Amino acid sequence: MNSDHLPDSILIVDFGSQVTQLIARRVREAGVYSEIAPFTMAEEAFHRMKPKGIILSGSPAGVPDEGSPRAPDILFNAGVPILGICYGQQVMSHQLGGEVRRGHEVGDGSGNRGGEFGRAFLTVTKECALFDGLWDVGDRHQVWMSHGDKVTQFAPGFEIVATSDGAPFAVIADEARKFYGTQFHPEVVHTPDGAKLLANFVRHVCGLKGDWTMAAYRDTKIAEIRAQVGDKKVICGLSGGVDSSVAAILIHEAIGDQLTCVFVDHGLLRQNEREQVETMFRDHYNIPLVVVDAEQRFMAGLAGQTDPEKKRKFIGGEFINVFEEEAAKVGGADFLAQGTLYPDVIESVSFTGGPSVTIKSHHNVGGLPERMNMQLVEPLRELFKDEVRDLGRELGLPDMFVGRHPFPGPGLAIRIPGEVTKERCDILRKADAIYLEEIRNAGLYDAIWQAFAVLLPVKTVGVMGDARTYDNVCGLRAVTSTDGMTADVYPFDASFLTNCATRIVNEVQGINRVVYDYTSKPPGTIEWE
Ligand code: XMP
Repeated sequence: MNSDHLPDSILIVDFGSQVTQLIARRVREAGVYSEIAPFTMAEEAFHRMKPKGIILSGSPAGVPDEGSPRAPDILFNAGVPILGICYGQQVMSHQLGGEVRRGHEVGDGSGNRGGEFGRAFLTVTKECALFDGLWDVGDRHQVWMSHGDKVTQFAPGFEIVATSDGAPFAVIADEARKFYGTQFHPEVVHTPDGAKLLANFVRHVCGLKGDWTMAAYRDTKIAEIRAQVGDKKVICGLSGGVDSSVAAILIHEAIGDQLTCVFVDHGLLRQNEREQVETMFRDHYNIPLVVVDAEQRFMAGLAGQTDPEKKRKFIGGEFINVFEEEAAKVGGADFLAQGTLYPDVIESVSFTGGPSVTIKSHHNVGGLPERMNMQLVEPLRELFKDEVRDLGRELGLPDMFVGRHPFPGPGLAIRIPGEVTKERCDILRKADAIYLEEIRNAGLYDAIWQAFAVLLPVKTVGVMGDARTYDNVCGLRAVTSTDGMTADVYPFDASFLTNCATRIVNEVQGINRVVYDYTSKPPGTIEWE
């Protein structure tokens, strides 16, 4: 974000810890806006954001390792409060004149390798602004540690305010400069008071009010989009999913009819999906919307194709072709809007060669900006998925869109193993709609991450009335997950599944058998292809 539009903020300097994003979440949950910058870009981010506080993250590296990352010195001289977490504590101590040694060199004299991993307990030994209203001297608290190295000599100006068995410097503080260091990780849930400690840092120590809200974010973003786009045109590929929907509505609020949305109906959508998108965006929000009926084109290209990867590749490539053609018809758009989210922007930090910022390209429009020579508008880049949902609600998007299960770019094609035909898509659409209707009626939709039907390339024998049938098998899948990376099977009651199976076989011509998928991820994937 541009500093002219930035709310009061916290800069999080990333040294490559697996849990850096959790720091950002906790800070935002405390009502304070925060951004993560890889350590090599921290100086630039500092000047741009003018943060009211800085948090230094953990790292897989060790301070004594050759070439391990350092924080830009300017951060320590800016008069801004700093909280160093784990590696952040160690690197701050090292850079300010203290000493950090490898755990196994200092150990505890018992042959123990010296580090602490997992649950640990610390004892508060002194009052500290970080603990105000939360921890008292003499208290013992559970925290989560994960460190091999440790500070063996703190830097001038610091004092110990909490100790643990494995880390005599569990928390150190320099109250004059408002510099604090914790050897443990307050950002993880295994440190029960961690969120409160972080809230204490950003509110009490840094003096931020904690009044950052989605409404404020929306206003900030609208101003920023206007400044970025000026009087130019923006084109947005709408998928009907929550990310592109929220991005489109936000951009439309900012620049009105300078935005055109393109919705490609590739014939692989769920039942009524196209109509829902048309009603919502064209009729309700009055957003200029081009709907492209590309079903025949996609079906022709998919004919005879059974290889999952080839199906995906064809759909991705053809999507770009169609989108490009439609964008050319709209004419003269300089900007392409994308619903890229924060977790899509992977900042992987390598401490030998510097950080590499890899952007996971949106599956559908990846490569388009370069091909079409367009700049990107990505108003959700700083948000997590649940924050996007909050923003969607703030923009008046109904729950039907805001709370929707994820739907893959290649659509039903990856839920029809084997050849995809219009006929098979129609059969699957009907079964899927019945299954989802039952899930909604049972009040289970929001408890499930993703639920869908698949149509197997297998026919089995059945009997209906007096007649023998020979028809397709339908698989049902439902999983819970937090990010789609791992998933558990949703444990429906047997009666619920029996009812779905009965309805599907009775109401959908072409299906005579229904099975439920009991595979978690891993080892299975969520989709079947
Ligand atoms: P898997 O099947 O890999 O899916 O366990 C994890 C999550 O990703 C979604 N998915 C996709 N999304 N394009 C997408 O936009 C794709 O090609 C794609 N493949 C899988 C899937 O629906 C689940 O939410």
